[in-house]
Amino acid sequence: MTTIKLNGKAVEVKAEADTPLLWVLRGELALTGTKYGCGTGLCGACTVHLDGAPARACVTPLSAVGGAEVTTIEGLAGPEAKALTEAWIDVDVVQCGYCQPGQLMSASALLRQTPQPTDAQIDEAMSGNICRCGTYPRIREAIHQAAK
Ligand code: FES
Repeated sequence: MTTIKLNGKAVEVKAEADTPLLWVLRGELALTGTKYGCGTGLCGACTVHLDGAPARACVTPLSAVGGAEVTTIEGLAGPEAKALTEAWIDVDVVQCGYCQPGQLMSASALLRQTPQPTDAQIDEAMSGNICRCGTYPRIREAIHQAAK
């Protein structure tokens, strides 16, 4: 058994130490908001926060989590998250929706670090989150709107 800090609670998990955090979340804990895309750290669908910083859960073994606070889309809260959720709806960002939890996790980490990001800062922070529907312009617009 390993205990991790997850969405504000201490949670015991049975998975082996080398199990990717993504499978602990989705398989063992049924937190399916964190998505599987590539499995190799390239698409961003599995983005969670470790101590507030974006991390790819598919390439983060359970053993690497340690005492870090893990936040998933289910536990995302705070003023940035609220503003982003409202802006996402307002701007009608979502198309198929699959990548959007990961997009929101990266966007909220960005706004916490950089409350008024420039286009370049948005593009840099979001560059690891791929969207096959090409919602990038709306994502950028929604981040600007949330930053106001
Ligand atoms: Fe983790 Fe693609 S599933 S980065």
